Amino acid sequence: MQVEDVQRVCVLGAGTMGAGIAQTCSVAGFSVAMRDLTEEFVEGGFQRMRDPLEKRVARGKMTQEEVEAILGRIEGFTSLEEALKGADVVIEAVFEEMGIKKELYGELDRLTPDEVIFASNTSSLSITEMAAVTGRSDRFVGMHFFNPAPVMKLVEVIRGSETSDETVQLAMELSRKLGKEPVEVKESAGFVVNRLLVPMLNEAFNLLLENVASPEDIDKAMKLGTNMPMGPFELADFTGLDVGLAVMEVLHRESGDPKFRPSPLLRQLVRAGRLGRKTGRGVYDYGGG
Ligand code: CAA
Repeated sequence: MQVEDVQRVCVLGAGTMGAGIAQTCSVAGFSVAMRDLTEEFVEGGFQRMRDPLEKRVARGKMTQEEVEAILGRIEGFTSLEEALKGADVVIEAVFEEMGIKKELYGELDRLTPDEVIFASNTSSLSITEMAAVTGRSDRFVGMHFFNPAPVMKLVEVIRGSETSDETVQLAMELSRKLGKEPVEVKESAGFVVNRLLVPMLNEAFNLLLENVASPEDIDKAMKLGTNMPMGPFELADFTGLDVGLAVMEVLHRESGDPKFRPSPLLRQLVRAGRLGRKTGRGVYDYGGG
């Protein structure tokens, strides 16, 4: 398949990443199907797109017509079979759990014609392992987007052990068509960005545990000292503490290296349900939990 043949993209998952990827595909002019398990989740996905777009309208950066056109190219589904109809590429952004993903891919493989390309937005799991449950390991690739997907320029294109050159090429070209800059990455836990970024966030929790500085000052130090747009705790709250912990666990498990040991404080906050902005409370309090 050539990138010119891609007309319709099916995005699985309407959470932060799924909705952001669906929006990105629609902005680039593709027709989009977005699927999640319940009407409520699908509706939540549309709301996640609408809110920041409406803010842009209020700031005079975009017209209401443009917002409606972006949302109008996206159809919401709960039925997997319906969502997959006519899709040339499937981008999966469901819960980061290997068992859930493998079960889904087995089903997808049965429901979609052979030529359809599967791309997983996994942030650290093995592309090779997911691809192995399908009969199309050569047409299976990782496309890792960054939050907020409509804004962040990078896509890590991950080659599993069986991914063909043609599929990697298609994912690179599709990323460019989506207005992104792709980098090709060999399969390795955490790929490039999360292997570097998440241990840094994890170490911030260790600093806090050792009372080296307050959360506000740790954030301030990294923002002013390295020009990060957000400090490590602001970023951890933004992406989700559970997401960061899951990445650390994969890095630790896959490498066996103690340098990737999740911080006990990060673990404790996740256990307490303090997952960040999405639950109203993480390192900071957002008045919702
Ligand atoms: N859709 C469309 N536009 C959006 C948007 C969305 N969902 N969210 C923000 N924007 C736009 C805003 O409209 C604004 O546009 P204009 O400049 O044209 O007005 C622009 O993006 C910047 O947004 P804001 O003015 O609201 O806020 P900001 O300047 O503080 O930037 C930010 C917000 C882009 C999130 C910035 O703080 C940032 O870059 N933070 C770091 C994000 C980051 O590191 N992400 C990676 C996380 S790691 C990850 O995702 C991988 C993983 O697997 C865990």
